[in-house]
Amino acid sequence: MPQHRSHWNSRWTFMLATAGSAIGLGNIWKLPYMIGVNGGSAFVLVFVACIFFVGIPLMMTEILLGRRTQKNPLDGMQALASEAQASSAWKYLGGMGMVTGLLILGFYSVIGGWVLAYIFEAGGGNFSQITAAQSTTNFKALLASPLKLTFWHTIFMVMTMAVVAKGVNSGLEKANNILIPSLFAILLVLLGYSMSVGDMHAAAQFMFKPDFSKITPVAVLSALGHAFFSLSLGMGAVMVYGSYLQRNVSIARTTIYIALADTMLGLLVGLAIYSLVFANHLAPNAGPGLIFQTLPIAFGHMPSGNFIGTLFFLLVAFAAWTSSISLVEPAIAWITENTKIKRYSAAWGLGLIVWLLGVAVVLSFNEWKEIKIIFGLNIFETLDKLTSTILLPLGGLLMAIFAGYVMKKNHVQEELDLNNQHFKLWQFTNNYIAPIAIAAVFLFLFGLVK
Ligand code: PHE
Repeated sequence: MPQHRSHWNSRWTFMLATAGSAIGLGNIWKLPYMIGVNGGSAFVLVFVACIFFVGIPLMMTEILLGRRTQKNPLDGMQALASEAQASSAWKYLGGMGMVTGLLILGFYSVIGGWVLAYIFEAGGGNFSQITAAQSTTNFKALLASPLKLTFWHTIFMVMTMAVVAKGVNSGLEKANNILIPSLFAILLVLLGYSMSVGDMHAAAQFMFKPDFSKITPVAVLSALGHAFFSLSLGMGAVMVYGSYLQRNVSIARTTIYIALADTMLGLLVGLAIYSLVFANHLAPNAGPGLIFQTLPIAFGHMPSGNFIGTLFFLLVAFAAWTSSISLVEPAIAWITENTKIKRYSAAWGLGLIVWLLGVAVVLSFNEWKEIKIIFGLNIFETLDKLTSTILLPLGGLLMAIFAGYVMKKNHVQEELDLNNQHFKLWQFTNNYIAPIAIAAVFLFLFGLVK
């Protein structure tokens, strides 16, 4: 098979692209509400532990798998398996990741649509002097309109596929360079505002004062799943980005920077949100609508709030955009490297399929709200739980097993290029801690289901 692959222009670009994949709605939309739904500090503690002991080692693993093969996840796993003289069935791990990415995109694009809608809400001055009750009513009105939701979901999908259709060098790189630094900057503005008018003390207590009584099995399950979601792990996105990475870049250092930036950003958004939640006597466990109900209150009352609010949602849309691109890239890389279908047609074809899935998700917020798919979960909830708590950790578990027990140690060492001590540390976390943690959570999950 002729392989003519493009590479990132520099280590910085790879880092920004991978950070662009990691930083997205997971940090800004999902983490804050998950913290509230799962009892605050207990969830934060377990989440941070999962990032360090499972997320970081497995991100290194996923990058190393990608860089070793320089191929899409499915062919990559097959090539790695044959290099290790293992069963070619490992390729299905790559296949599973591609499907997982598309399933995630099905709801990601809908939430990305909410963000787009809110750019215009903020820009149109609709937040000015808004009360907490009005803000909630506004958001509920958006959710109740399948037409509006579908419209914004469509725009988000078109934005995603337009970049994917153009390809890795021309499309992805440019989108990332300005975004992440700007996002951090505007977040600091928001945080400063929340600090001055919100209840930062209550927020910090809620998020960081350890209360072990609140660590429930469900909170642990959700925290582990969210560590995967937030770092984009377990479905091949990081693997495919790693496959475009040059050989002379340190995987460990890059991973640590990305994981720290990703986690910090999420926690900062959480602090900003919860200090507003407590100052305005809102419910911390409002669920997926949390940021859309709280942030307008802040923007509606701060000086230049219309402008800052518009900019904020614009940057969140960008962050979501660079993540959504990485959700389709594994599948697109596979299609273009294995069939005669051109990148352009592959992107729009897959886009249409995922768009349809997204329409079902849209309806699950209104007309089909009561339609339960499994365990009392509607379409959106099913897709979310299935991908975050099952498919991503399962993908991660299998990658860890593959790198730890199937690949030749010297091949792994060659890619990671670590000193002996650091290599042992990676090996310990990848071979024991991560698999045992994930397996334990699965055992619990299946026990629950019984
Ligand atoms: N990490 C992204 C976010 O936090 C979502 C994502 C998950 C992207 C899995 C790619 C793969 O928004």
